[in-house]
Amino acid sequence: MSPALDAYWMPFTPNRQFKAEPRLLASAQGIAYRTPDGREVLDGISGLWCVGSGHGHPHIIEAMKRQLGVLDYASSFQVGHAGAFELAERIGALAPPGMDRVFLVNSGSEAVDTALKVALAHARATGQGEKNLFIGRERGFHGVGFGGISVGGMTNNRRAFGGAMLRVDHLSSTWDPATQAFVRGQPADGGAAMSQELERLVALHDASNIAAVIVEPFAGSTGVLVPPVGYLQGLREICDRHGLLLIFDEVISGFGRMGALFAAQALEVVPDMIVFAKTITNGAAPLGGVIVKRSIHDAVMQGPRHLSELMHGYTCSGHPLACAAALAQLDVLEQEQLPRRVRGLMPSFENIVHGLADAPGVVSIRNLGLAAGIELAPEAAGAGRRGARAQAAAFDRGVLTRAPGDTLIFAPPFISEVADLQRMADRLRQAIEDTEASG
Ligand SMILES: Cc1ncc(COP(=O)(O)O)c(C=O)c1O
Repeated sequence: MSPALDAYWMPFTPNRQFKAEPRLLASAQGIAYRTPDGREVLDGISGLWCVGSGHGHPHIIEAMKRQLGVLDYASSFQVGHAGAFELAERIGALAPPGMDRVFLVNSGSEAVDTALKVALAHARATGQGEKNLFIGRERGFHGVGFGGISVGGMTNNRRAFGGAMLRVDHLSSTWDPATQAFVRGQPADGGAAMSQELERLVALHDASNIAAVIVEPFAGSTGVLVPPVGYLQGLREICDRHGLLLIFDEVISGFGRMGALFAAQALEVVPDMIVFAKTITNGAAPLGGVIVKRSIHDAVMQGPRHLSELMHGYTCSGHPLACAAALAQLDVLEQEQLPRRVRGLMPSFENIVHGLADAPGVVSIRNLGLAAGIELAPEAAGAGRRGARAQAAAFDRGVLTRAPGDTLIFAPPFISEVADLQRMADRLRQAIEDTEASG
């Protein structure tokens, strides 16, 4: 029986439309959901970019059950429990060298805001309190906190909230439809030149005012926009030259999707902070965090010893259940060698995704790691309508996707077989054809 739908104000959902035509999920195992009437819906977006190890993983379930029986809750404010310390230690050991201090929160949005606060705290602690301007990027997504929407570059998210609160400026998006429409992986050319825009912004604002630059290694939520080779390296060099912190928002790219634990490793550019969430618990519990370079952390560790060095934290920071899920997920990623498995799948994934290029209305396909965006031509009636119709059609055809604007996201679980990727792509093709036929 369907639940009453009125009371729940759904996030990032056209509520009236959904409630008129609900699409409910009832259970999940491995790479597939089931609807309440038992229909299979392949998980073409890993839940929401988070269920890399597959749904219902027994090791994660077991760890969470065990944890609940032992310690259901413990604050991390001036008391602690072993799980949070163990998790931070393990994440620090997996991150690039020198990045081994970890602040835990409950979501990507909180993690972004935390990273911005750490940058401000670092500026003050090093006698540069006037450094309080941030540089983000157009078409970047950094969650929905006021800090995140300030540095983010999604017009729809910013419009409603009065331009937000922080002092920010934005780099241009790396997306160039004229030259990148059907590029496989990273575009080869132009990255270093593109990164020079940061020099222009530094010249405009002066480095003495800029706390940090924050970018996703590739823009995920706005449709998988992949920067050219050399772009991130260019940002790193410019940040080094001017003493700016570089923050990578790896909420999507972190913990395996790039064929490495972090995009920083896959793309060989080491930032000063890495923001993470999503895949760290395989979606089984809310948890996010910021990995901070030890030198930045150490600089902030000052002031009277009886006061918090950083006045920041959440009631559920380091929640025992979420930490247990994350520790188990790290076991799974390691024991099942999932980053390596992703690397093995990447060439087939790329071929399968680009095989959709001749589906009706497809105007661009981008991919990196196990992430792809399949962009459809907008309808004359307005941007986003075709994408929304295709997303609904995909569900009806038995594959879960998401459509920021008119781009369908394809980001399968790491445990998928090549045949699963093909089945998902076949269903996406059917959905794109249905959308064309009913347009
Ligand atoms: C890059 C990036 N940062 C931050 C977030 C926000 O994460 P959350 O929804 O957990 O707050 C997201 C969510 O998709 C994201 O893709």
